[in-house]
Amino acid sequence: MVDLISFSLVLIILGVILKIYIKLSVKHNGCYKCLVGKTAVVTGSNTGIGYITALDFAKRGCKVILACRNKVKAEAAVFEIQKETNNKNVIYKHLDLSSFKSIRDFAGDFNQMESKLDILVNNAGGIGFENKFTDDGLQVILQTNYAGPFLLTHLLLDKLKKSESGRIVNVAALAGRLAGNIDLNDLNKHPKDATGFYSPVQTYKNTKLCNILFTIELAKKLYGTNVTTNTLHPGIIDTNFLLTIPFFRKLIQFIGKFYFLTPLEGAQTTIYVALSNDLEGVSGKLFDNCREVGMYSNAKDPNMAKKLWEISEKWCKIEENEKIR
Ligand SMILES: NC(=O)c1ccc[n+]([C@@H]2O[C@H](COP(=O)([O-])OP(=O)(O)OC[C@H]3O[C@@H](n4cnc5c(N)ncnc54)[C@H](OP(=O)(O)O)[C@@H]3O)[C@@H](O)[C@H]2O)c1
Repeated sequence: MVDLISFSLVLIILGVILKIYIKLSVKHNGCYKCLVGKTAVVTGSNTGIGYITALDFAKRGCKVILACRNKVKAEAAVFEIQKETNNKNVIYKHLDLSSFKSIRDFAGDFNQMESKLDILVNNAGGIGFENKFTDDGLQVILQTNYAGPFLLTHLLLDKLKKSESGRIVNVAALAGRLAGNIDLNDLNKHPKDATGFYSPVQTYKNTKLCNILFTIELAKKLYGTNVTTNTLHPGIIDTNFLLTIPFFRKLIQFIGKFYFLTPLEGAQTTIYVALSNDLEGVSGKLFDNCREVGMYSNAKDPNMAKKLWEISEKWCKIEENEKIR
């Protein structure tokens, strides 16, 4: 009995130490930049770390476009951000990354309305537990997390080039490292394929590795321009994202409330990468906890990044005049 009490006490003490360690390790973005006169697009910003990112930019006086798929949720987010910041230059525009038409409509509208874009945050993402395909012929999660942002970036690049110093921030994940060595020809596997076993977790990991490979190749192509791009792991965060996992939901929720980062903590690296003066001219790098970290070993092959780019141009039906060279 005494042994059981001692064991429980040790567990509780270790748990509290771990919590204190996690909380003390989280870095703040440390940027005191004013964004008056700047324009930002943040995808998936009605909730989670995208919402906090949009809120942070709005507090700094930025014009922020919440690029979201759900009108009701996005309008509620705009209302909250305007109320908290008194910045009326916070607006919602519809964007569903799982539809190339929606992306083209969004970009067409943006390019007509705005003279420049200073910050593009490709934040939206999720894990898809159903093996569904979009009307564009891609797995929903592959398109939402990777191919959609690939197309969106192409279509907004001219406006980013009109900025004094444009930044593209691609929110990836440590999951990209766990993807292992992926076969690019196998990424958009259809269930009808003979070997078409669908693993939602592996698909998610693959898309996050794609975000990183995309950043590396894009940085090369943007070399010598005024636009930079970087990618990041935001941490393990207590957002809706993990609640989409259909198993162990209660356990994840319980652990999440205690050990995961809050959305405010989880948004710090995105804000740092988007704003830090220290990153002027820095491109093609990976960040975690507001500092640069070494590139994951499975993302280091330049041929892979190049090959993924070529495949993605085909997936997204990028026109000749839209290609980034
Ligand atoms: N949470 C974590 O632990 C964690 C860890 C590593 C990386 N990340 C990455 O961080 C990013 C943000 O995640 P989060 O944790 O803030 O999750 P979240 O709270 O679930 O937010 C995800 C956002 O993406 C939007 N979205 C999903 N599908 C979309 C689509 N087809 N078109 C447009 N928007 C879409 C969602 O819109 P709805 O509200 O309409 O669904 C929501 O606004 C994701 O890229 C995720 O992979 C998260």
